[in-house]
Amino acid sequence: MPCNPDAPANLGLFAESDLLQPARTEVLGPQARVLRGFALPWTERLLPRLDEVLAAAPFRQMMTPGGHTMSVGLSSCGALGWTTDRHGYRYSAIDPQSLRPWPAMPEVFRQLAEHAAQAAGFNDFNPDSCLINCYRPGAKMSLHQDRNERDFNAPIVSLSLGLPAIFLFGGQQRSDKSQRVPLLHADVVVWGGVDRLRYHGVLPLKDGTHPELGRQRINLTFRHAG
Ligand code: SIN
Ligand code: FE2
Repeated sequence: MPCNPDAPANLGLFAESDLLQPARTEVLGPQARVLRGFALPWTERLLPRLDEVLAAAPFRQMMTPGGHTMSVGLSSCGALGWTTDRHGYRYSAIDPQSLRPWPAMPEVFRQLAEHAAQAAGFNDFNPDSCLINCYRPGAKMSLHQDRNERDFNAPIVSLSLGLPAIFLFGGQQRSDKSQRVPLLHADVVVWGGVDRLRYHGVLPLKDGTHPELGRQRINLTFRHAG
């Protein structure tokens, strides 16, 4: 039996805004927040720009200074891109693979990052770097601090797309206990101020297929690096 077959047709018409989850904020620390579903209204504009960036600067697996190949595929856009090789971690204006500047940061990326920072209490965030991480099933990110930026005044803004992952949000010391935070498509995590140097990482990605992104998770990390 169909559900309410006589419903007038216009009962099915919602304004687009009625179909979106209300934004929910979770507190990870004094100056660290998870903005649940924050990017849902942005993804339609953002994903085509992401495809363009990745066509110009495809994902590649980089080597750590210790000689390990990272399980996560990396790319970047913006004035500065984060890179690693046998000589160390650093920001570079040049993509070491193409030997050309990184693709420009699309305006919609910059706007999303600025709005998310503001929603978490950080005004005037102006990222000059967007690191793009690609996690296939099994890929992970070990606990680390983001500390290659010139100063730590600006927050970190981190957007999750695609498959869910468990984000580890630790303390100021590597040995501090971590919170396990499930991150879903379009969630944004922002940390800065007293929480700027908190250790963080990602547990090995569980296999699955996301309706929009397929068998992967893509994370965009916005920073003011230079
Ligand atoms: C990172 O810390 O670089 C990535 C974090 C994430 O993938 O959520
Ligand atoms: Fe990080």
